[in-house]
Amino acid sequence: MDYKKEEKEGKLKHKFTKDRGKWESFEVKKMADMLTDIKNFKPVFWQNPNKLSANKALARIDFSFDDILDAQKRLQRFAPLIKKLFPETEDGIIESPLVEIPRMKQEIEKLYGGKVNGRLFLKCDNYLKVAGSIKARGGIYEVLKHAETLLLENGLITLEDDYSKISEERFKKFFSNYKVAVGSTGNLGLSIGIMAAALGFKVDVHMSHDAKEWKKKILRDRGVNVIEYREDYSKAVEEGRKKAAAEKNTYFVDDENSRDLFLGYSVAALRLKEQLAELGIEVNKQNPLYVYLPCGVGGAPGGISFGLKTIFKDDVYCYFVEPTHSPCMLLGLITQKFSAIHVRDFGLDNITEADGLAVGSPSRLVAEIANILIDGIYTIEDEELFKLLALLQDSENIKVEPSAAASLKGPLLVNSSTNAIHISWATGGIFIPEEIYREMYKRGKSYLKDTALY
Ligand SMILES: Cc1ncc(COP(=O)(O)O)c(C=O)c1O
Repeated sequence: MDYKKEEKEGKLKHKFTKDRGKWESFEVKKMADMLTDIKNFKPVFWQNPNKLSANKALARIDFSFDDILDAQKRLQRFAPLIKKLFPETEDGIIESPLVEIPRMKQEIEKLYGGKVNGRLFLKCDNYLKVAGSIKARGGIYEVLKHAETLLLENGLITLEDDYSKISEERFKKFFSNYKVAVGSTGNLGLSIGIMAAALGFKVDVHMSHDAKEWKKKILRDRGVNVIEYREDYSKAVEEGRKKAAAEKNTYFVDDENSRDLFLGYSVAALRLKEQLAELGIEVNKQNPLYVYLPCGVGGAPGGISFGLKTIFKDDVYCYFVEPTHSPCMLLGLITQKFSAIHVRDFGLDNITEADGLAVGSPSRLVAEIANILIDGIYTIEDEELFKLLALLQDSENIKVEPSAAASLKGPLLVNSSTNAIHISWATGGIFIPEEIYREMYKRGKSYLKDTALY
């Protein structure tokens, strides 16, 4: 293989070969090159050399299949309450559709001049009810778990009760004695704020400077206390954590360390398995699954990858995607320093329009898991996000936010068989106000015009 040519074409890949000695020397040399590219804001594709087989990795990870099932059962217990509080969910289960996007597949091939082997699907968390993003999976789950714990401790419910009664005024009064707090770039804050406020909790959301005004407005309209920072996400989390620790009855949802968030995300894998089966798709060695997940601090893509590897083992390949300006998980894994890095240590500014991914340091909890579990990470420039956002609108009439569009380039970067099933995870978008979305779309269209392909 002509690696130099591949590198030039932006398709740099790091492959295992049978000759391990040869592979290692190749990898070490390329790592140095890759760090240089990362520091120069160049997009890279990194194949994880520390990945273990699914069974070996799972044996070392401190979460189990039973933990995922436990989380799923908790969400089922709460379904009657969610149905009552958010009738738009219909059955009280907050889930998104899985749709095939063949026209977008053609657009990706045209834009990048390559071939996507197999079928391409979009997991539409951009349409997730209640909070409009992937963060709803973990965020809402953790708020519900905390609420359940408080109610059980105070003898106000039993596990066998119909939880719809939790919408009664007396429960709201009970929760008003407690506060839930969180640090966020926007979407986790929305999930926690919307659900905690609906239950009756007081809520503090500590927002980094990246957080969009319209997200803050949605929260303020629901009575949430939004605290703004001029600094980035790490600072918002740090300050939020400190303030919560100093207060009585305040529960801090810790995006950098939370096991509950992680498990809330992981339930998506059980649901995806069902959706694939409904489409008559069987995942196995001959029909492998490739999943592309936008990564900020790592909780959402980490929890979902854990769930998918638990179910599909080595027949699923999980790739994270990060902006070239905020590749915190990639740097954490390449350097093996996990959370003990910030992208600014590498001269990067952590400034990106993909606000959900504008994170400088990864979660240690997730980085240690991702290190042995995931298949790789690629990075993407902001300009590409807008192009992909506009192409998805034109080809499939689907609205996503820039963070979510990042997942659409993945299928073109991997070498897959023609039987592969690719899933780009569209992590958010439905709540974007129309005028702001139109501007994003126009921006994408103008970048596309510059390519002379459109
Ligand atoms: C739209 C969107 N996609 C992806 C992510 C990444 O999730 P995580 O920060 O858990 O890695 C976020 C995080 O806020 C997000 O808002």
